[in-house]
Amino acid sequence: MALNTYFVDREEEISTILGFIKARANVLIYGLRGIGKTTLLEKVHDILIHEGRKVLYIDGYEILSPEDLFVISRRTPTMDARDSVRFIFEMLDHVIIIDEFTSLIQMLARYRPFGNVEDVVKYIRSQIQLRQRRGGESIIISSSALGFIKRATMKYFAPLFREFKLLFIGPMSFEAIYELAIKHGIKEEEAREIAELSTGNPFYARKIIEQVIAQGISPREALFKLIESKGDLDIYFTALMENLQAEERYILHLIARGRNRFYEIEEKLYKDPSPYLKRLEDNGLVLKIKKTRKFSQYIIPDKVFQAWLLSQEIPSLGKISREAIYVSSLGFEALVRELLRSITSVIKIRDWLGQSLELPPFRAVYNVSGHDYEIDAVGLRNNEAYVFEIHFWGKARYNKVLQLIKNAELFAKDYGKRIKEKVLISYFGYELTNKEKEKIKEQGIKLLTSKELREIQKKTGVKLGF
Ligand SMILES: Nc1ncnc2c1ncn2[C@@H]1O[C@H](COP(=O)(O)OP(=O)(O)OP(=O)(O)O)[C@@H](O)[C@H]1O
Ligand SMILES: [Mg+2]
Repeated sequence: MALNTYFVDREEEISTILGFIKARANVLIYGLRGIGKTTLLEKVHDILIHEGRKVLYIDGYEILSPEDLFVISRRTPTMDARDSVRFIFEMLDHVIIIDEFTSLIQMLARYRPFGNVEDVVKYIRSQIQLRQRRGGESIIISSSALGFIKRATMKYFAPLFREFKLLFIGPMSFEAIYELAIKHGIKEEEAREIAELSTGNPFYARKIIEQVIAQGISPREALFKLIESKGDLDIYFTALMENLQAEERYILHLIARGRNRFYEIEEKLYKDPSPYLKRLEDNGLVLKIKKTRKFSQYIIPDKVFQAWLLSQEIPSLGKISREAIYVSSLGFEALVRELLRSITSVIKIRDWLGQSLELPPFRAVYNVSGHDYEIDAVGLRNNEAYVFEIHFWGKARYNKVLQLIKNAELFAKDYGKRIKEKVLISYFGYELTNKEKEKIKEQGIKLLTSKELREIQKKTGVKLGF
């Protein structure tokens, strides 16, 4: 089933790109698969056309030989693959947009006189410089090969990428995905759940929306259908895994299951995991979070991918229940815990009531299940505990504050820790009377909303999609 193509969000990115085009600067757009690069480039293309400008749009995946480039530039083909590139870059009055340009470069590397990717890159660079000297319009290129980009910008490709402004495309906000779901006629409550489950990735959001509409099931059911055997996302992730080495796949499963410190991975792998971790980091599949010089932790930033990993039955690692998968990787709470884990230096913010709050790098962040209580997140720092109550559906009322106080007391008693801070997090804000607000201040309880979460996210530099 094909969905309507509603466009949401990305105002900031669009205006940045248009600004670069105005300045005739070249731009390299990069970001994870499915994050919306192609959609963004198409939007920019439409805007430029609407303004009456000349644009050449090339989909790198559709260019299978130099012949295709000759056709696009409408020049007479030659036997020299360099000409196919040169003719394109000689179109000075066109803004050139190339989606998935890495694929284009790899194709060209197979044709004479190029011998390898490096030859192609060198030649393209000289052509781009020439174009710039002649006052040519911008070149906008995109890639999802994050590892490639990272290596390329550091190693011998560096000279080429110096010609480009880099623009990272991160996850969308909860609000944007919510809006997308609403536009497709999804009910409010379910739209919120879709926003929560897709963690800012529009590709996952669309898949869930499709499934919900087609089968009339809940978003959560829909997501499990998508990641179970032969579901759309199962096929997608299986293909992704096939491109990895066995060690890398194993490491992903370990990290997904909470063995996320270097020594824990090393212990299971029976060899040095460094090169594999490096590659996984390069591909953007794993994120390294450095706490101190000696201590770092690895996380899988893509929570849907993590849920799929957990749903795979690995003989040596066992099978995990749906409930456990949901709570550990997909819930809003899991994202908040991930955010708290990503703090590497003291973060100072003002809470929803204007009180100041300091969040330190925690030694550990986890959820706690007691006999008769559940704590969404506890952050440990030496012998002190930060207790969090996390609320997602709608505005939080005073009963949540009472819950938090009770949880903190129980935790202090059961674990013998001093409680440093009690923090309530409610994504969509609060519904509190003035008297209640006063009481909260007296008790030193801190309140956060989506706004403060975004502020923390910005300070950590880790993008989780708040
Ligand atoms: N701004 C947006 N508004 C609405 N839907 C979007 C938006 N951006 C992306 N999508 C949807 O998300 C899906 C993935 O987007 P897109 O193909 O642009 O991602 P991509 O980054 O180019 O992925 P890939 O690396 O796989 O090429 C598409 O179905 C698209 O319709
Ligand atoms: Mg794309």
